[in-house]
Amino acid sequence: MRITYYGHSCFGVHVDGQDLLFDPFVSGNEAARHIQVDTIPASIVLLTHGHGDHVADAQRIADRTGATLISNYEIASWFSGKGVKDTIGMNTGGTVLVDRIQIKFVWAAHSSQLPDGSYGGNPGGFVVRTSEGAYYNAGDTALHMDMQLLAEEQPRFAFLPIGDHFTMGVADAIRAAEMVGVRQVIGIHYNTFPPITIDMEAAVKAFSDRSITLHLPAIGSTIEL
Ligand code: NI
Ligand code: MN
Repeated sequence: MRITYYGHSCFGVHVDGQDLLFDPFVSGNEAARHIQVDTIPASIVLLTHGHGDHVADAQRIADRTGATLISNYEIASWFSGKGVKDTIGMNTGGTVLVDRIQIKFVWAAHSSQLPDGSYGGNPGGFVVRTSEGAYYNAGDTALHMDMQLLAEEQPRFAFLPIGDHFTMGVADAIRAAEMVGVRQVIGIHYNTFPPITIDMEAAVKAFSDRSITLHLPAIGSTIEL
């Protein structure tokens, strides 16, 4: 699968002829100033929760690409009310099939509120199952025991927040990777704002000490996993 990182918690995954784009927050991200929002490919836009640093560019991208916007029921309805044409509202534990890709909305321990103060439903993460295997995007979350259940989904890799303060930090993300049973982690939700600044080298080493590879791709770069 081809993964392109757009900064913060936003990345695209190209697989099975689809471009899945998670948590687009690019135009307001100083660290991603070199990314042109209007060139990011998307056929499915997935939002883990309603906070601005996850949904800011969702409508702009969905309107341009005609992508299907998938999130919890409240967030999908909010975007539908704003004119986004193709939305799917889910709730925790549900799975939807889009083309040949299975998308499951799973628990996250966090909060959720939309940029205008509207109720943002429950935050979540996604387990995505493709012809090339499954992966897990934890979204914004604390470490929680339900992650143990996700090992049964046999994800090949996981996107985990590592910035601390608003989500789990490196130590808990390592425990999360072990619970979920992945040896390949892509770090998200770090270095965007001062409170979530981390020592990247120390983070990579801490994961590697537990035989887990932490990928921290540069913003705008692409990796294959
Ligand atoms: Ni958040
Ligand atoms: Mn966030």
